[in-house]
Amino acid sequence: MLMMITMMVVQAAAGEGRTYEYKSMQSERRNLLANGLANTPQMGWNSWNHFYCNINETMIRETADALVSTGLAKLGYKYVNIDDCWAELNRDQKGNLVPKKTTFPSGIKALSDYVHNKALKLGIYSDAGSLTCSKTMPGSLGHEEQDAKTFASWGIDYLKYDNCNNNEIKPTVRYPIMTKALMNAGRPIFFSLCEWGDMHPALWGSTVGNSWRTTNDIKDNFDSMMQIADMNEYYAEYARPGGWNDPDMLEVGNGGMTKDEYIIHFSIWAISKAPLIIGCDVRDISKETLNILGNREVIAVNQDRLGVQAKKVRTEGDFEVWAGSLSRYRVVVLLVSRGPEPGPITAHWDDIGLPPNTTVVARDLWLHKTSSQRFAGKLTATVASHTCKMFILKPVA
Ligand SMILES: *[C@@H]1O[C@H](CO)[C@@H](O)[C@H](O)[C@H]1NC(C)=O
Ligand SMILES: *[C@@H]1O[C@H](CO)[C@@H](O)[C@H](O)[C@H]1NC(C)=O
Repeated sequence: MLMMITMMVVQAAAGEGRTYEYKSMQSERRNLLANGLANTPQMGWNSWNHFYCNINETMIRETADALVSTGLAKLGYKYVNIDDCWAELNRDQKGNLVPKKTTFPSGIKALSDYVHNKALKLGIYSDAGSLTCSKTMPGSLGHEEQDAKTFASWGIDYLKYDNCNNNEIKPTVRYPIMTKALMNAGRPIFFSLCEWGDMHPALWGSTVGNSWRTTNDIKDNFDSMMQIADMNEYYAEYARPGGWNDPDMLEVGNGGMTKDEYIIHFSIWAISKAPLIIGCDVRDISKETLNILGNREVIAVNQDRLGVQAKKVRTEGDFEVWAGSLSRYRVVVLLVSRGPEPGPITAHWDDIGLPPNTTVVARDLWLHKTSSQRFAGKLTATVASHTCKMFILKPVA
């Protein structure tokens, strides 16, 4: 918002004509996306982080089954999202996308019927370029209307739209074309922009998509995950119901981090109102992974109706305090030790937005325990290296 206001001032200084032009561009943009989706950050699963191109209709169906049998679907993980590599390299004679015959022989419509029968939703992937990133299938550039109609006819509920092989046309030009196409397709389709943060999509994404990637791809290690969390935090002001910052999909359960590091990963994604898109093999999920991804108190933070993305409010060396407002005057706080040392970490009320004389009870969202002690002015906890503590602070009279 700040950036937009600054732009207005700059434009106004440049003359009234340009101010008018800018305003009308804004109102045109405002009309692009009105699909009523993303009131809270999207939750689901995507094939890429674990399977890359090794996908087929059998494992997509089995994943839908597993989301239900593990209870994850009930917790809100509704979108089953197919990533890159699902189509033939060549379109048919009418220019339609064709599901890959060897791996999706029954077609995508059959898959969406299957998934819908389980009260889940089906997501698909395309690219705002001539080919997708794998280069094994076409992108939608120049075919936006046709592809959006194809997706709608198949019963698709979600589109992740990548940025490879884009002929160096700006994302701000290419992405809105698909927004319009989806709005004309006759079915509400969640639009997930994936232009990797190239052109600061937080500044324009809310009028074009329901979420926008703010960063390059996540890797399954602690440094990558924290670096991406930092980049995403920068845009916190821009997240709101209807459109969310997307620091990429979850790596929880893929094996590259410790249990405690995955807990930090999931906690930061939840507090940041990031999409919670599982990236592991749900068909073969461990108890430990399920306990992280299935923590309903942490999920409730992510899905809180206020829709405020937490910010990093204090950094002292490797010790960080993240905090954000929740509905009903509550505040969620995350204390993170990201370096090699343990430390006492303190959340001060004036850092986290509580009035100085507020007394609170603290609910530990990972221990599932409410403090018998009350806290006034600050809360201090001991946090071991590469671990975190996550609390909801609730004012008491
Ligand atoms: C489907 O994909 C899964 C995951 O990569 C693989 O294990 C399985 O063998 C594949 N099945 C077929 C029929 O290709
Ligand atoms: C908190 O402090 C403010 C300002 O000093 C004061 O007006 C208010 O009455 C105090 N509230 C409580 C509950 O003590």
